[in-house]
Amino acid sequence: MAGNYKIAVIGGDGIGPEVLEAALEVVDVVGVKLDTTMYDLGAAHYLRTGEVLPDDVLSTLKEFDAIMLGAVGPPIGSVDVPDGLLERGLLLKLRFDLDLYVNLRPFTGIPGSIATGHDMVVIRENTEGPYAGEGGILRKGTDNEVATQGSVNTRYGVERCVRAAFDIAAQRPAQRISLVHKTNVLTYSGDLWKRVFDEVAADFSQVERSYSHVDAACIYLVEDPGRYDVIVTDNLFGDILTDLAGSVFGGIGFAASANLNLSRNGPSLFEPVHGAAHDIAGTGRANPVAAIRSAAMMLDYLGEKDAASRMSDAVLGYLREYDPAQPVQHTADTTREIVRRLQ
Ligand code: IPM
Ligand code: MN
Repeated sequence: MAGNYKIAVIGGDGIGPEVLEAALEVVDVVGVKLDTTMYDLGAAHYLRTGEVLPDDVLSTLKEFDAIMLGAVGPPIGSVDVPDGLLERGLLLKLRFDLDLYVNLRPFTGIPGSIATGHDMVVIRENTEGPYAGEGGILRKGTDNEVATQGSVNTRYGVERCVRAAFDIAAQRPAQRISLVHKTNVLTYSGDLWKRVFDEVAADFSQVERSYSHVDAACIYLVEDPGRYDVIVTDNLFGDILTDLAGSVFGGIGFAASANLNLSRNGPSLFEPVHGAAHDIAGTGRANPVAAIRSAAMMLDYLGEKDAASRMSDAVLGYLREYDPAQPVQHTADTTREIVRRLQ
């Protein structure tokens, strides 16, 4: 067995633990040995203990080779967990503190979806933009209340993300990259993004580049997803576009992601794009594909190239032959189907 990587596993809430279990099973089948440590974090943990992500746990997480995360979040409408507490205190804290500056989200159009047979990648900046938390509320609760929420865009942050996106585009057969922003309205941040994009492009003359405003990109994604090969965009646009892309390419249950610290001075984090889906938790109906594909991305990032490509080929084979006319496959069936392709 190759490996023996130290992996922190945060199953989290709802279907999170179930889909990670499926992913770990497939990793085992491809023969990579993981030394896993489970961390109990998320909404249920918070409600039991009042803790979100204690500092000592965060420091411990920094010692791992990688982190696998299932999903965190309370059931919709839960009044017991304040809005944003887990998002800011756990997931975004990990993205920021571990400097996971690239959020890599690949999409493969399953048969029957609008994007059948097409694939693309979104590179979402993951540590800045409106997510940085700049702003505040003045005179809260009064008639004169003021709320501001800024967007932080540093040349350093934009450039390292754009460069990573060009690197990825240069390795793909189509070699096409599109910047998505809103330069016609966000004339400060958009200007910085566009200039950096054009500057970095000079080092990648073989990569064909284009630009779309984010509103138009939503139309193109739905009407002509083949227009895009690699999209690079800011944190909030990337969040929204990748939910849209998830749906266009067949469903959010297939959408994987890698939160990467490409300077490799700490662990990267791998998680499905979907949330906790409390409504189907425990029913065996969760789609494990996003988690399995995220785990394949983790193996690739850890340098287990052979195992990673066998695992992602098995997932892609499964997706290519996916029959939308069949009754919905359940967690165990899907996992078995992917494992069968590895034997
Ligand atoms: C995602 C999620 C997160 C985000 C939430 C849970 C904070 O929607 O990973 O896309 O907005 O980035
Ligand atoms: Mn999202």
